[in-house]
Amino acid sequence: MNSKIGIIYSTVDGQTLKICNKLKEVLQQNNQEVDLFSIDEFREDITKYDKLIIGASIRYGVHNAKIIEFIKANITQLDSIKTAFFSVNLVARKPEKSDPETNPYVVKFFQTINWKPTIVKVFAGKLDYKKYSFFDRKMIQLIMWMTKGPTNTDAEIEYTNWEKVNEFAGELIKL
Ligand SMILES: Cc1cc2nc3c(=O)[nH]c(=O)nc-3n(C[C@H](O)[C@H](O)[C@H](O)COP(=O)(O)O)c2cc1C
Repeated sequence: MNSKIGIIYSTVDGQTLKICNKLKEVLQQNNQEVDLFSIDEFREDITKYDKLIIGASIRYGVHNAKIIEFIKANITQLDSIKTAFFSVNLVARKPEKSDPETNPYVVKFFQTINWKPTIVKVFAGKLDYKKYSFFDRKMIQLIMWMTKGPTNTDAEIEYTNWEKVNEFAGELIKL
């Protein structure tokens, strides 16, 4: 069955948007109607969608505040349709921290918000030191050192598992 799907994202360096674009592409290839919005530009009536997907990345332990505000302000409408939420972060590069039940940010997120999306996913993001400010680069180096990741500032590594993104698109179609 064809459905109308809305995707809302927040991104800083573009990886969450890249995942959203991949989802949109696969969904459209499967004859779904898809609208993609950044959280800053979304002004639609949520209930005009059959399914709404919200994607956000983690920065210093938290998802974008606007995403959290949006969810809290619209829980009733969100609960009236099928929904999915996905988080993008670097801790998820570790297989043992890549599920909603094991990723610390996602576990904490759902402890602080009274919303149960139909599907929850976690995707590993991208490490790209050259994009970061001096302060951020130092902080990410520290985080990487503590979690045994690359600290070489030439490192540019996309950890996102695109097969998992494809599977997510498949689940969204069946939803
Ligand atoms: C300033 C900064 C802080 C970050 N903080 C975290 C963090 O606390 N935990 C984590 O797992 N990843 C962290 N990341 C990694 C991002 O979640 C990852 O790079 C992701 O791909 C960013 O997605 P975006 O480009 O859509 O914003 C951080 C990245 C930056 C640049």
